Amino acid sequence: MKIVVIGDVHSNLPALEAVIKEIKENIKPDLIFFSGDAVGYGPWPGETIDILKENVDYGVLGNHDAGIVGKTDINDYYDAVRYVINWTTDILTNEQFAFLDRLKYIHVNESARTLLSHGSPRMPERYDYIFNCKGVNRLYDVAPFLQKVNFMGHSHYMNLFLLTGNNQSVELNIASGEVDISTLPNPVVCVCGSVGQPRDGDPRSSFVSYDTDKQILKYHRVEYDFELTIDKIKSLRLPASFGERLRNGC
Ligand SMILES: [Fe+2]
Repeated sequence: MKIVVIGDVHSNLPALEAVIKEIKENIKPDLIFFSGDAVGYGPWPGETIDILKENVDYGVLGNHDAGIVGKTDINDYYDAVRYVINWTTDILTNEQFAFLDRLKYIHVNESARTLLSHGSPRMPERYDYIFNCKGVNRLYDVAPFLQKVNFMGHSHYMNLFLLTGNNQSVELNIASGEVDISTLPNPVVCVCGSVGQPRDGDPRSSFVSYDTDKQILKYHRVEYDFELTIDKIKSLRLPASFGERLRNGC
């Protein structure tokens, strides 16, 4: 079975359209997972949700999505983020709102031996980031619940970590874009990048695919026209920095 994991779309419609095109033409997966944050930052929240609704098989609730549906306190967020969350809440239809409202914090697929969450699955409603081995090591608290592959988003980076036992982990090299995990005895944590706002210095959309039979993870990049998103943000007078950062992927 082939699974694709997309997430952190953040209302960036040209990015999502480019990624869906790549998935349909070149990957042809059996399942599409969504790792959270459909909305926030970007200018096309309703259109983004409509495309996700049509294409995603299983999804989880991101922190920006949780802000929309009242499941997290957005007073902790800085003004510009809060402004876009409130603007988004005002323009979503009931059906679009309901799509976000139905998302759970965790999705486990036992036959594929995968777990899906937005931030760390240790206390998923807290949305802790996993950037490094220190974050991964905290997952030993919930080790019995982990699966062979634990997908997450939230950081907008792409990483792969292996739990090595004794509360330790290592980061694996993903530079080749493909990692065979079939011989690895322990769970891995796969951080899946971001469709709509990558932050690793590469402006191209990022996402992951996984072949559950061969146990091979692939890290994908897709170009899209970020100037369209920057122009739309300007025309709607949303915070301009949320557009400008797309040029540099940061
Ligand atoms: Fe995000």
